[in-house]
Amino acid sequence: MKILFLILFTSATRATTDVEKFLSPNAVMRQLFEIFRNAIKNGSKENNVPVLDPFVNLQNEFNIDHPNMRLFANLTNSVYSGLGDFQLKKIFFLKEELAVDLTLLFPKLIMESDNYQMKGYIFGLPLFGQGRLRFEVKDLEIKSKIHLTLSENGIATLIEKFENPQFSVRKILSNTEFDENIDCIINKIVKDVLATYITRFNKYIIHTYSETIKHFINVFLDRFDTWRIISSLL
Ligand SMILES: *[C@@H]1O[C@H](CO)[C@@H](O)[C@H](O)[C@H]1NC(C)=O
Ligand SMILES: *[C@@H]1O[C@H](CO)[C@@H](O)[C@H](O)[C@H]1NC(C)=O
Repeated sequence: MKILFLILFTSATRATTDVEKFLSPNAVMRQLFEIFRNAIKNGSKENNVPVLDPFVNLQNEFNIDHPNMRLFANLTNSVYSGLGDFQLKKIFFLKEELAVDLTLLFPKLIMESDNYQMKGYIFGLPLFGQGRLRFEVKDLEIKSKIHLTLSENGIATLIEKFENPQFSVRKILSNTEFDENIDCIINKIVKDVLATYITRFNKYIIHTYSETIKHFINVFLDRFDTWRIISSLL
């Protein structure tokens, strides 16, 4: 979810990157991810990317409407952090398929908000209330084969599709005010079951949201002049 908001606020431009020709394709891919990490953490004027970690949003509304996940949330002064701390556990460039095989780990993603209102449920777990919100997602690991494609402007490398994507979450901690009387109960339920539920239904979640996720990641990738690097590997 975080990624979706973050990338919404970027706009198009081109990047200049410097990749050594003699590196192996996998090392080149790792360098690209370091360029993205730098842009996420420090922002990039050149590429018109704001600082995305931490990312501050004064006001945002979520509206998820799906049979197993129905949630309306209105957040004020939200801060999202941890996106730039990803670890690239595995990346394998598949030249013939123009794809990468990827395992990416986010050790800790934090979402905090001064004031929120929320109503809904995720897989039968009711989430409602208002007040301060803090969720901490531990060890979100994403695995996928990702097919790449050239952007319309002929400059950037975009995601064409995810093949067999999956993810897991080790733990979600919540320190959120729901309803004064039941804060600790709901926070404990979140801690005990939410990560397990989300992991168990990960394929369903990805299937439901993969086009949206792809779109937002591509809005980010479209800012970077990376095609010439990828094409040098082909
Ligand atoms: C952010 O910029 C600083 C100063 O230029 C640099 O030392 C640091 O490595 C950059 N951060 C990342 C993640 O690249
Ligand atoms: C969201 O919160 C803001 C600030 O409290 C409020 O002005 C706005 O009306 C809320 N939006 C909805 C849809 O409730």
